[in-house]
Amino acid sequence: MEKEKIINFLNKDLRAELTAVEIYSAHAEAIQEGEIAQGVKAILEVERGHARELTQRIEELGAAPVKPGEKDTKIGKALRMTSKHGSTLEMLIFELSEEQQAIKDYSTQLAEIIYDTTTIAILKKHLMDEIDHADWLKSKIVELEGKRKSIP
Ligand SMILES: [Fe+2]
Ligand SMILES: [Fe+2]
Repeated sequence: MEKEKIINFLNKDLRAELTAVEIYSAHAEAIQEGEIAQGVKAILEVERGHARELTQRIEELGAAPVKPGEKDTKIGKALRMTSKHGSTLEMLIFELSEEQQAIKDYSTQLAEIIYDTTTIAILKKHLMDEIDHADWLKSKIVELEGKRKSIP
């Protein structure tokens, strides 16, 4: 039944968004470069919004949303301990890998859902936001790497 599949998708997405919130919060505190820290904080607010929208949609569908601090989001806490000690470049590369995974997950789900246009609209908006986040992270990574690898 499509509804159950959608609830599973949404809870998977919610876990990833809650993890993203934990990672971006830790990195926003740890990053010393003002402009990059501001950009990370802006992304953090968007991820908080994603988590709220997913929570609301799961409840509308009559299911229980995963909560912050439940099993998988502990991964976020674990990362919080370690990634704080990494360099800014390492943090951005790690964040990019999370965004890349989110882009893939939202795309796959959007391809599969047929009947639930409300959920499709939410996931589409999230996908566009994650693409913007990935683009911004890529541009900062290129800057920090000194444009060594960019292709004209
Ligand atoms: Fe997100
Ligand atoms: Fe994102």
